[in-house]
Amino acid sequence: MKYDGIIFDLDGVICSTDEYHYLAWKKLAEKLGIKDFTKKDNERQRGVSRMESLEVVLEKTDKKFTQEEKVALATEKNEYYKQMLAQMSKKDLADDVKDTLDAIKAKGIRIAIGSSSKNAKFILSRIGLLDYFDAISDGDNITRTKPDPQVFTMAAQFLGLDPCRCLVVEDAEAGIMAGKTGGFDTAALGSATKCPYATYRLSTFSDLKAIVL
Ligand code: BG6
Ligand code: MG
Repeated sequence: MKYDGIIFDLDGVICSTDEYHYLAWKKLAEKLGIKDFTKKDNERQRGVSRMESLEVVLEKTDKKFTQEEKVALATEKNEYYKQMLAQMSKKDLADDVKDTLDAIKAKGIRIAIGSSSKNAKFILSRIGLLDYFDAISDGDNITRTKPDPQVFTMAAQFLGLDPCRCLVVEDAEAGIMAGKTGGFDTAALGSATKCPYATYRLSTFSDLKAIVL
């Protein structure tokens, strides 16, 4: 087998919660009087921490905020986001994603989540995958977010595997950089396919089967 383990980003890879991040930040931006918060701005929020994502929004206003006010704004955005997550169900797990994961598991390849999010376990529970992965490395066990490789190196450790035996699947350029820096091969989806450092580029999630099975 080419890889003994696969580490999946969550938002924008396993499910479309990247869209909810965008909508929640846009709602906060509008409350701050920012009318031109776009998907292009949102691209830079992929993979990075909640507070760094807030800075992408605040770049678009001249208003100044204290650290305490920034924490309150990030918390407000997270409330909007969690309201959207609460509406999710197993129907939000696409068939091609579930079928591909099942096929990978059936081959005995170990699988983990490697996500910067502190909402990762809540999302996994909404889509019925909380107990599905062999390991979860997320915003609760890291001190540095992507493009730092920590979330992936810890996922590999949790799986008991060396990074060179694992593949990282990502939709964020910051995630591809994190994988490369950590010594992982990477498979890019969506906007991450533009990153020159990706090992593979996928058109659909199920393209993974041709690489790893
Ligand atoms: C990543 C998203 O998965 O999680 C980022 O791509 C987000 O945009 C980060 O900032 C942190 O997520 P959360 O859910 O803890 O705010
Ligand atoms: Mg992502």
